[in-house]
Amino acid sequence: MNNRSLITTSDSGLYVRGISSLKLPEMDDQSHNQLPANSGRTIAAPAAMKDVELVSPSRWAPAWPNVEKIRIVKLCHMRYRHPASRVGDIVAFLLDFGMQIVKKTEQAIWFSGYGVDQYVYYAEFGPEKAFLGGTWEVESWADLERAAKLGNSEIVQLRDAPGGGHLVTIKDPEGFPVNFMYGATPRSQPTRKPAESLQVNDEFSKPRKGAFQRFEPGPAAVHKLGHFGLTISDFELEFRWYTTHFNLVPSDILFAREGSGNKTDVAAFLHIDRGQAYTDHHSFFFTIAPSKHVHHSSYEVHDYDTQNMGHFWLKNKGYNPVWGLGRHRLGSQIFDYWWDPDGFMVEHYIDGDLVNEDTPTGRHLAGDESLAVWSEPVPSTFML
Ligand SMILES: [Fe+2]
Repeated sequence: MNNRSLITTSDSGLYVRGISSLKLPEMDDQSHNQLPANSGRTIAAPAAMKDVELVSPSRWAPAWPNVEKIRIVKLCHMRYRHPASRVGDIVAFLLDFGMQIVKKTEQAIWFSGYGVDQYVYYAEFGPEKAFLGGTWEVESWADLERAAKLGNSEIVQLRDAPGGGHLVTIKDPEGFPVNFMYGATPRSQPTRKPAESLQVNDEFSKPRKGAFQRFEPGPAAVHKLGHFGLTISDFELEFRWYTTHFNLVPSDILFAREGSGNKTDVAAFLHIDRGQAYTDHHSFFFTIAPSKHVHHSSYEVHDYDTQNMGHFWLKNKGYNPVWGLGRHRLGSQIFDYWWDPDGFMVEHYIDGDLVNEDTPTGRHLAGDESLAVWSEPVPSTFML
């Protein structure tokens, strides 16, 4: 067939005289402007926040009474109660989520990651489910005693827990349990990382030559507990209590605009202030919501492939996804949220930001766009 056999006149006025003489229809130049391609960069915090309203932690100083803070070192594990009738479902889910059982008794199971913490998730079993609080490791016995005094609670020895230690549980102003622990023996070193760091070829840099990427499917192994959060009703009350009594400092705050145009703070992401030492962008957050409950707890996994393989492992097992994968704007984590069989939300994350005392605190307008850089739309079930 030669080009002559292709000559025709289309309804749109397009002449096709072989490939070399193709004539395109008239186009509206305005609607075909070239688009800037998406991009990503790693930017030092002050420059990254140059267009953001900054607030100084001293903004809240007048509200802080002169108390000696209870010094938190890290967030170490979560505590939940699940219905005893569902123990099999919960254990199966947490194993598929990438945790490992380190100890079992008749009433409780301790689940670990592969980091230095003896366990990251304590599940006790009873008549009905309950959120029993996040657990903060404190610097000294004196800090633990100050926590006990603050909550008018007793310090208990953890006789059964791996690593032992002492624990005190107090209530925050909205009635949420908060745990503090001291004296637990950490693992001597993290257990071996289950996945090697991959050599990744991009379009210009191709360090991986003559070698292939190979994977084994399975759960995304949990490294450590990263953060947890609450939905609350009184922002100022909770904010003052947590920032007054503990070395918790806001990394970012979200505000809503009232009808009058005034800004009202509605959510805060808080990091553990360890001075010059860098800590996770948030170990804790709270946000105003229609009902009060634990929002989610979040666990770190190795990398993007690990996280995706974990996502599809859970999906293929029939568990209920909430939202993800996507990348958060504040904190930068790539997230993946799931419902456990009892309706508690848990998250796998990778690639979170680190901050220290020099990192500015930002104040942003609350909204779906503040939650993610890329993702499916925020589901209505995410923030109830
Ligand atoms: Fe999270």
